[in-house]
Amino acid sequence: MRAASPLPGARKALEVRNLRVGFPTEEGMVQAVGGIDLEIERGRTLALVGESGCGKSVTGRALMALQPKHAEVSGEIWLTPGRQEAQLDRRLRASSENGSFNLLQFKPGGKEMRHVRGGLISMIFQEPMTALSPLHTIGDQIMENILLHRTKNRKEARSIALEMMERVGIGNAQRRLDQYPHEFSGGMRQRAMIAMALSCQPALLIADEPTTALDVTIQAQVLELMKQLQHELGMAILFITHDLGVVAETADEVAVMYLGRIVERAPVRELFRNPKHPYTKGLMRSIPRIGGVGGRLASIEGTVPLPLNRPPMCGFYERCSERIEGVCNRQDVPESDAGPGHKVRCFLYSEPEKKGDNPHE
Ligand SMILES: Nc1ncnc2c1ncn2[C@@H]1O[C@H](COP(=O)(O)OP(=O)(O)OP(=O)(O)O)[C@@H](O)[C@H]1O
Ligand SMILES: [Mg+2]
Repeated sequence: MRAASPLPGARKALEVRNLRVGFPTEEGMVQAVGGIDLEIERGRTLALVGESGCGKSVTGRALMALQPKHAEVSGEIWLTPGRQEAQLDRRLRASSENGSFNLLQFKPGGKEMRHVRGGLISMIFQEPMTALSPLHTIGDQIMENILLHRTKNRKEARSIALEMMERVGIGNAQRRLDQYPHEFSGGMRQRAMIAMALSCQPALLIADEPTTALDVTIQAQVLELMKQLQHELGMAILFITHDLGVVAETADEVAVMYLGRIVERAPVRELFRNPKHPYTKGLMRSIPRIGGVGGRLASIEGTVPLPLNRPPMCGFYERCSERIEGVCNRQDVPESDAGPGHKVRCFLYSEPEKKGDNPHE
C-alpha cells in the first residue's frame, strides 16, 4: 500500500496523525493510544504529560516501532530528519517523499526501521536496564550504536563514546567504558543511556522520564546537557514526564494526555497561564508553584481507568467536576481551537454533535 503524502509544510521533524495502538486481550482491546496527533519542529521540545497509565510510554515506543508483536498500530508517523539525502540509508532514500517518510510503512523488525532506530530517532527509556544489556560493557554498547550508524572505524567510535561519556558527566570515562552496567549506580546508568542515545546525533530524541531516577542536582545537569546538545544538533525532543516543574523549564510546547488521547495542547506559557481542560487544571493544581521542583501529579481524585471496551465518550468523564451529563458521556469529543496554537478536547469549549438527534423529539 502506498503511503499518503506528507502534509503541506512538513518541515517539522515529527508529525503524527491519528496514531492508535491497541493490545488485544481476552477481555477485549486495550486501546492504550486512541488516535493522537502530535507535531514537533526541529530544535524544539514537546512535553507529553499525564498521569501514570495514560499512554505516554506506549506512544514513545510506537514512534520507535518497539511495541509487542501482537499490538495493533495504525495512523501515520512522518519523520523529516533534515539530513542530506546522501547521509540517509538507500532504502530510506527510496521511500522518502521530499525528505519525509511515514515510519508506519516500514516493518517494525525490518532494515529500514533498524536505520531509523538509534540512527535518526533514539530513546532514553524510563527504566535504564531496558536499554542496557548486563552482558556487555557500557563502552561496547555505546560503540555498537556508533559503529552501526556513524563510522566503521572502532578507534573513532571509541573516541566518540569517550567524549559522550565525559559530556554526560561520567568521570574517569576511560576506565568506566570497560565496566558492566551492574558496576554503575542507577544515576550513572541513566547517564550512560543518555550518552548512548545522543551519540548518533538523532533528529528526534524521545526522553521517557529521563531524570526521574536522578537526584535534583544531577537532574538539572542532565537537562542542561540535553538543551545544549539540542542547540548544537537541532534535534527535536519528545519529553515524557510527570513533573510539571520540569515541563516549565524545558518544553516549548505541551501535550496533555489522558486515557490514550491528547486532551489539550498549547505553547508552554499559554498552557500554564490559561489551562482549559478540567484535567489540565487538575494537574496544574497539583504543583505548589510553577518552576518549583518536583511537582507531582497526585491531587485529582480517582485513577486512570484501563482503556478497555470504552464507548465513544470523554475519557475524563467519571472524574470530571464540570462534566455535562448526557453530553460528555454520549459521544467522542472533537478537538477545538482555544487560542493561537492552543487546542482542547472538551465540550465546555465546543458544541456537541447534533447529527444523531431524533428530529421528532
Ligand atoms: N503490552 C501491553 N499489553 C496490554 N496493555 C498494555 C501493554 N503495554 C501497556 N499497556 C497498557 O496501556 C496503558 C498505557 O500504558 P503506558 O505505559 O503508556 O502508561 P504511561 O503513561 O507511560 O504511565 P507511567 O507514567 O506509569 O509510565 C496502560 O493501561 C497499560 O496497562
Ligand atoms: Mg511510562
